Amino acid sequence: MRILVLHGVNLNMLGRRNPAHYGTESLADIDRSLAELGHELGVDVEPFQTNHEGEMVERIHRVLDEDVAAVVINAGAWTHDSHALADALELLHVPVVEVHLSNIHAREDFRRTSLLAPVCAGSICGFGVQSYLLGLRAAHGLARNSCA
Ligand code: DQA
Repeated sequence: MRILVLHGVNLNMLGRRNPAHYGTESLADIDRSLAELGHELGVDVEPFQTNHEGEMVERIHRVLDEDVAAVVINAGAWTHDSHALADALELLHVPVVEVHLSNIHAREDFRRTSLLAPVCAGSICGFGVQSYLLGLRAAHGLARNSCA
């Protein structure tokens, strides 16, 4: 089974961003942990990061023609303002799990709204790197059930 993990804007800077919100691990560290868990679950984890919204939209469109069983996405700040990403995710016929390192409900008001949440199967936030790992487990479980 193949699961796509999408990292949005500024997430390539993890390790250099505010550690109080985002911890100290780099994106490469997170991708390594995801690959390890993927190995355990029998999942090929395919990470993708971009700072360009259109590129992210096009990566999501390609899922329609790929053998991808589920998507995990941390869209960064696009979460709060991108109708374009929400529309792209809505096209998908596979489960989508939204994740955030920080607890977006315990921060500034604008972060409490996710435009992506309505088109996702569920959302996990506030657990640091564990949010991604829990998100991968959830995506795997949902994909397995939808194949059964
Ligand atoms: C984030 C939360 C967003 O509000 C923020 O813009 C990010 C990271 C998180 O993982 O906690 O860039 O998605």
